[in-house]
Amino acid sequence: MGVRQPRGGQVVPDPTAAPEDLFEKCRRFTRAREAQAAGLYPYFVPIMGSEGTEVHVEGRRKIMLGSNNYLGLTHDPRVMEAAQKAARRYGTGCTGSRFLNGTLDIHEKLEAELAGFLGKEAALVFSTGFQTNLGIISSLAGRGDVIIIDKLDHACIVDGAILSQARVYRYNHNDMTHLERVLERARREHPVAGLLIVVDGIFSMEGDLADLPHLVPLVHRFGGRILIDEAHSMGVIGATGAGVHEHFGLTPQSDLLMGTFSKSFASIGGVAAADENVIHYIKHMARTMIFSASMPPYAVATVRECLRILKSEPDRRERLWRNADRLKAGLQSLGFDTGLSVTPIIPIIVGDNVRTFFFWKVLFEMGIFTNPVIAPAVPENSARIRTSLMATHTAALIDEALEIFGRAGRQVGLI
Ligand SMILES: Cc1ncc(COP(=O)(O)O)c(C=O)c1O
Repeated sequence: MGVRQPRGGQVVPDPTAAPEDLFEKCRRFTRAREAQAAGLYPYFVPIMGSEGTEVHVEGRRKIMLGSNNYLGLTHDPRVMEAAQKAARRYGTGCTGSRFLNGTLDIHEKLEAELAGFLGKEAALVFSTGFQTNLGIISSLAGRGDVIIIDKLDHACIVDGAILSQARVYRYNHNDMTHLERVLERARREHPVAGLLIVVDGIFSMEGDLADLPHLVPLVHRFGGRILIDEAHSMGVIGATGAGVHEHFGLTPQSDLLMGTFSKSFASIGGVAAADENVIHYIKHMARTMIFSASMPPYAVATVRECLRILKSEPDRRERLWRNADRLKAGLQSLGFDTGLSVTPIIPIIVGDNVRTFFFWKVLFEMGIFTNPVIAPAVPENSARIRTSLMATHTAALIDEALEIFGRAGRQVGLI
C-alpha cells in the first residue's frame, strides 16, 4: 500500500509508492474457488429443465424445495399462454423507461388491478423488486430524514436506505421494546426529521412475520411512516392473499406497501402501492423507475394472469399452507430446528458454514434442491438450509423429501 507509518495518529500517503491495482482484491478472493475445489460450492447451479416442483440438473431429477414459486404458477398453462400472447402482441421487450417509450396499456391496467388488490388508491410497477425498494426509499427519504430498519430486513432495503443518504438506525429483529428505544433516540437526535420505518412482512430467511400490530401504532406515535415489504407475503397470506398488512387487518394504517413478482407471481418485477399523491411523487422521482427500462410485456401479462388466478382460486393458498404444515411437522419430528418459521419458508438451522455446505451437498446428491444461507444474509453462526413450499407440491413428494432429509441429517450428524 502507498502509505507511510502513522504519524501522530494520521496515515500519510507515500508519494513514491506504486498505486494499488484495483483488481488486486479479485486475485486475493479465493474463498469461492476453495469451496469449488472441495466440491462443496452450492451457488449458481445451472438447472437444465423444470416442471416447477421438480427440476433437472445434469440429467438428474431433484425435488425443488428452494424456489419462491409459492403458488406454483410458473408452469401453469394459462399463465404461459398469457405470456406468449403478450410477446406476440407487444414484442419481447419495451426497450425504454416507463417515463419515455416504455409504458404499455397493460402496465397501467396491471397497476389499477394491483391497487385494488392491495387496498390502496394507486400502484406503480417497477422492473424488479430490488429496484422497487431502492426507488421508493431513496425518492421519499433524503439527507436530513431518518430511516429505521429491522436488522434482518432484505439487502435491497439496506441499500435503499444507504442510497437515500438519510440517517439510518437499526433495531433487533422484531424486538418492539428495542424499536421503541431506537425511535426515542432517533427523535431526540433528529426532532423534526421525516421518519420512515421499513420492514419485511414475512422475513425471507426466517419465515416469521413482522409484528405489525405493535409496530404500526408505535411508528405513528413517533410521527413516522411505514413501508411494508410484502415480497414473500403477497399471494401467500391474508384473507385474499394481499399480504401481512391484510392478515393483521392493518391495510389503511399501512402507509406504503411494496411487493415483488419474482415469487408468487411467477415472473419478475415489483410494485409500490399507497395514496395517489405518494405514488405520483415516486413515479416522477424514483431514479430506478425513470432511468431503467420497463417490465417486459410477457412479464406484465404473466403477473396479470397470476393475479386473476390467485383471486379466483383461494384453495391454492390453502394447499400451500397445508404443504408447509406437512413439511414443518415432518422436519420437527425428525429432530431438526426450524427456527422461528410460521410460514411456507422453513429454515433448517445448522449453525456452522462448512457443515451447512456439507449438508446441502448431501441433500443435493440424494435428490433435493435447497438453498444454503450463510452470514451476512443471516446472523453469524446461524447458517441454515432454507426450504420453501409450493401449492403444487404433492403430499407424496413432501414425504419423499422428508425421508431424504432424515437420511441426510443422520449422515451429517445433525439429528
Ligand atoms: C424481502 C425481499 N424484498 C425484495 C426482494 C427483491 O425482489 P426481486 O428478487 O424480485 O428483485 C427480495 C428478493 O429476494 C426479498 O426477499
